[in-house]
Amino acid sequence: MTGNSESGQPNRGFIGVTPRPPTLEDESYLDFMEGVRNFTIRELFPVVGTQVVEGARRAGLPADGAQASPKELRAATDAIPIVGTWKRIMRSQQQMTWNKLQDSFAAERASYTRALDAAEQQRPGGLEYDPGFQVPDYAKYPIHLQPGGYVGDDLAGYVFHHGTKVFYQGDNDQDELHQQIVNTVREPANGAVKRVLDLGCSIGQCTTLLKQRFPQAEVTGLDVSLPLLRYANRRAVDLDVAVQFRQGLAEQLPYPDGHFDAVLCYILFHEVPERLFQPIINEVFRVLRPGGSYTIVDAPNAKELPAPNRFWLTYDAQYNCEPYSPAFVASDLPALLTNAGFTGIEQASTDMFLSATTAVRPK
Ligand SMILES: C[S@@+](CC[C@H](N)C(=O)[O-])C[C@H]1O[C@@H](n2cnc3c(N)ncnc32)[C@H](O)[C@@H]1O
Repeated sequence: MTGNSESGQPNRGFIGVTPRPPTLEDESYLDFMEGVRNFTIRELFPVVGTQVVEGARRAGLPADGAQASPKELRAATDAIPIVGTWKRIMRSQQQMTWNKLQDSFAAERASYTRALDAAEQQRPGGLEYDPGFQVPDYAKYPIHLQPGGYVGDDLAGYVFHHGTKVFYQGDNDQDELHQQIVNTVREPANGAVKRVLDLGCSIGQCTTLLKQRFPQAEVTGLDVSLPLLRYANRRAVDLDVAVQFRQGLAEQLPYPDGHFDAVLCYILFHEVPERLFQPIINEVFRVLRPGGSYTIVDAPNAKELPAPNRFWLTYDAQYNCEPYSPAFVASDLPALLTNAGFTGIEQASTDMFLSATTAVRPK
C-alpha cells in the first residue's frame, strides 16, 4: 500500500477506470489467477469439449447430448480424467480469487468502510435506500462462489469488482464489454430520453456508461444489494459521473407508471428464480412510458444445446453456484415479453456469446 486517499481508502491509484488492488502482491496474484482462468477456458476447454462429445456419443445420448439431462451428461462424462480436472481447476481458481480478495479487503475493513461512507456524504441523495429493507432469501446465494454472495459482506462491491476483472479474462479491464452492452440499448421510439434505468446494476459499470451515452438523462442504477450499490456510489464519485443508485427489487420497482424512457437489464435474469421472470418483465413494462424501450442482454435462450455448452451450463449450476441459469436458458424470452404487452421484439448475438433482446412498450 503506498498511501491513503482523503476518504480513508487505501489507494494505489487507478489504471484507467479500474482501481488497482490493495497491494502489489494482490495484483500479482490476481494476474496469475487470470492466467490460470485463460488457460483453463481458452486452451483446456476445447479439449474437454471434444471429450464430452465423445463421452455423450458413447453413452448413446441424443444429438451429442444436446437434450441430455444434467444427470445423464454427468454419468457419461464424469469418468473422463480431463473433465474432472477441468472442473476442479475452474472451481479452485474461482475460490482462490475470492478468498485472496476477501482477506485483503477485510484486513483494512475500517478504512474501506470509511471510503464508502465518505462517498455517501460527498453526494447526498446519490444513493437511496431504506435501512429496514429486507433482502429476499433467493438473493442470498453465494453466486459464482463469492463468499457471502452479493449481500452478505459490507465490502462485497470491492471484492466483486476485482473478482469480475479476473472473470472477464482481461477483456473488460477498461469496461470495454460494458460499453458494448450499453451500445446495444435501443433508442426509445420518439428519441426523447429523460430517464434511464439500469436494472440489476451491481457496481454501476453500465450505469455510468449509460450516463455518457445519454448525458441529458437522469440515469439510475437499481439493485437488491446495498454493499454493491455503496461501492457503485463510491466509484461514481471517483469517476465524477452524476448518476443515482437505489436499493430495490426488480419485481417491485419503486417508481410510478411510465417513469422511464429506457430500461437495461444486463445479466440479471439468469440470476433470479424462474418464478420472477414474468413479474420482472411486467414491472418493466409498467414503469416504461409508451414508446419506451427495454433491452435485455443475457445468456441466449436455447432448449437444445451442443453437449459442450450443456456441460458448461451444468458445471456452472452445480459447482459455480448459478442455481437459476438453466431455467433462464430454457425459457422463452420473446414469449415472456409478448405476455407483458411488449412489441417490436428483436434478438441479436453479441460478441460475448450473449444475446441482446430489445422490445418496445407500444404507444
Ligand atoms: C450478474 S449481476 C449483474 C451485473 C451488472 N448488470 C453489470 O453491469 O455488471 C446480477 C445482479 O442482479 C442483482 N439482483 C438479483 N436479484 C435482484 C432483484 N430481484 N432485484 C434487483 N437486483 C437483483 C444482484 O444483486 C446482482 O448485482
